[in-house]
Amino acid sequence: MKNQRIIVFDTTLRDGEQCPGASMNLREKLEVARQLARLNVDVIEAGFPVVSDGDFESVQSIAREIKGPIIAGLARCVSKDIDAAGAAVKPAGKRGRIHVFLATSKIHREFKLGKAQDEIIRLAVEGVRRAKSFVSDVEFSPEDASRTEPDFLIRVCQAVIDAGATTVNIPDTVGWAVPDQFGPLIRELYQSVPAFQSGKAVISVHCHNDLGLAVANSLAAIQNGARQIECTINGIGERAGNASLEETVMALKTRPDIYKGFECGVKTREIVKSSRLVSRMSGLVVQRSKAIVGENAFAHSSGIHQDGILKKRETYEIMDPREVGWGATQLPLTKHSGRAAVSARLKHLGFKMTDPEVSAIFNQFKEIGDKKKFVYDDDLTALVEGHITETPEIWTLDYFNVTSGNRAVPTATVRLKKADAKEPVTDAGTGDGPVDATLKAIDRITNTRGTLIDYALRAVSQGKDALGEVTIKADFGTGELITGKGASTDIVEASARAYLHAVNRHLSEVDRPKREKQKKHS
Ligand code: KIV
Ligand code: ZN
Repeated sequence: MKNQRIIVFDTTLRDGEQCPGASMNLREKLEVARQLARLNVDVIEAGFPVVSDGDFESVQSIAREIKGPIIAGLARCVSKDIDAAGAAVKPAGKRGRIHVFLATSKIHREFKLGKAQDEIIRLAVEGVRRAKSFVSDVEFSPEDASRTEPDFLIRVCQAVIDAGATTVNIPDTVGWAVPDQFGPLIRELYQSVPAFQSGKAVISVHCHNDLGLAVANSLAAIQNGARQIECTINGIGERAGNASLEETVMALKTRPDIYKGFECGVKTREIVKSSRLVSRMSGLVVQRSKAIVGENAFAHSSGIHQDGILKKRETYEIMDPREVGWGATQLPLTKHSGRAAVSARLKHLGFKMTDPEVSAIFNQFKEIGDKKKFVYDDDLTALVEGHITETPEIWTLDYFNVTSGNRAVPTATVRLKKADAKEPVTDAGTGDGPVDATLKAIDRITNTRGTLIDYALRAVSQGKDALGEVTIKADFGTGELITGKGASTDIVEASARAYLHAVNRHLSEVDRPKREKQKKHS
């Protein structure tokens, strides 16, 4: 196999976003797409356009704005899906790709689709041909490929390539594969389909992490002929997630003795920045011990290790943390920094902000600058987030006061302002702790009743006065998990802001039909 270039196909904005509670709005998706372009991935799967107007708009906006990577839209083998994907990726011109999929495994054929093998091939071929009428770059995925009979899988690959597919993706949809089986399966496909050998079509893999083997399976596939890997930042995705981009890419780079000659275009110094952005935008906190991007990935606590590191870094570090973007923090800003400095730093961090947004962030920056000595890039990024969530600020926090102690009933008094209302509203609540009491008071004022499903607090930057960022997931009785985020130097305030963010998101969803009706009549 002469070609050793690995195409990195990022599906953070599609499969990653399918992770419960990870949904992102248009602005958040655009920020992630811009960062993926800086990371220099080859393909961005921007979404599944037929799913909703919002998904269509995100794929179309990304296709319109992002230059460099190929922009892909997902579609079932159904005309309306393919037409929507074709229209959504159109602004990307020659860089537009349609990714069609159809299940091929016996269990999916019999129980999900009720279709025989020949019918599956007919539908797959029709889907690819229809996609071809929109773009020349068509990818086909036989869903649940790893559990499909290999002979049938070979027939499917051959048929879709004959119909015009230029990439055939082999998904391990349910994370069932293990490297010793997945590698040989890819080899068998490579050896049985001449178009894979000639380079007319590329074999891709898309591995899920149900057994924690997504990265290992992707690497085994590369060694056996795959030349595209589908992955996500931080490994987010359906259920246990997808192969993590950072782990797969760094395994290739760190072990050239094993993965000889394989290379990809990813700018690894952008990895940590990408991980943090995705974590913030999706509300999915990265576990501390996560490889490459977790807080502890390069932290050495035992004395023996620290001693070794000081003598020679390589004694306990297999990668240079700077290579993946750690430790590149610039001089922090202080309360004396002016608007121009803040604006320049925002630009440097890659945020595209309007003048009023920069002013709003600058005001908040001044507030925290009074409370903490240094304002780091991460602090600033946490502030930016509040301004790009596009959630209407129906209720805003004006004032709060909590009393708490080991013998006192935690009590909170909260005052909120409602948009367009002259007077703020004050109420009080008691709870299991100061945060619980504050959220109860917010419920009373906003007339909502949220159940907290998930609560995560993390220090955004370094030092005792670090900004605390709270991410919550709440259910307001609709069964849908709504994410809210808030940052402050005070934990209770950060929690109140995060909860209020979720309340506003929930209320704006409830109001949406009313607002759309009003829009139509105005
Ligand atoms: O896991 C899967 O099979 C998928 C396909 C749509 C590629 O996500
Ligand atoms: Zn998937």
